[in-house]
Amino acid sequence: MNKLMRIAVDGPSGAGKSTIAKAVAKRLGIDYIDTGAMYRAIGYKMSVEGIDAGDTERLESMLKDTDIDFVRGDIILDGRVVSDVIRTPEMSRAASVCSALPAVRAKLVEIQRGMGAKKSVIMDGRDIGSNVLKDAEYKFFLTASPEERAQRRYEELVGKGEDVTFEQVLADIKERDHRDTTRKLNPLIKTEDAVEIDSTGLSIDEVTEKMIKEIR
Ligand code: DC
Repeated sequence: MNKLMRIAVDGPSGAGKSTIAKAVAKRLGIDYIDTGAMYRAIGYKMSVEGIDAGDTERLESMLKDTDIDFVRGDIILDGRVVSDVIRTPEMSRAASVCSALPAVRAKLVEIQRGMGAKKSVIMDGRDIGSNVLKDAEYKFFLTASPEERAQRRYEELVGKGEDVTFEQVLADIKERDHRDTTRKLNPLIKTEDAVEIDSTGLSIDEVTEKMIKEIR
């Protein structure tokens, strides 16, 4: 059997991680795993079931009863496709909040490690190179200025018919950056062995090409 290739892509919200990771996965013929979508799915389930972040007992019992998987690019929560309902500003916030909870991280990191142990993958998130796949063969840290990231998110949301302003999206991005980089448990950091790519002003193709070049 060929050796597994694991590629970790970390970086702040809206840096283009998922778009780039998907493109690289396609080029290399490996699986793409969106760990942010997993935190969003848990945030979604907590909000549907009305579980408070402080209610550890209900949270832990819910997590025991939760099944998360990816099928052909869709995220499946307890047998139901939730790919679209988790992509709202409200769910971005819910995901950011629940991702600071130890019980949530423990559950999702275990599933993510299992996924990376069986096959070659490119996985994106915040703690992939620093925690989930510490021994990944390739690590990237993808950044872009807050304004450029907010502009991309804004266009995406407006395209989906969401009623938002650029200022709201920028404020949201800055708030999430703060929460994701300052939380105690596995905050977003660039590891020493990660290759940093600043995607400000670059096209999707240019960033994809840079990554593929590093890998080859
Ligand atoms: O990448 P995203 O915006 O879909 O991620 C949603 C939230 O989940 C984000 O606020 C950070 C958190 N997250 C995390 O803490 N660890 C990961 N590996 C992935 C996402």
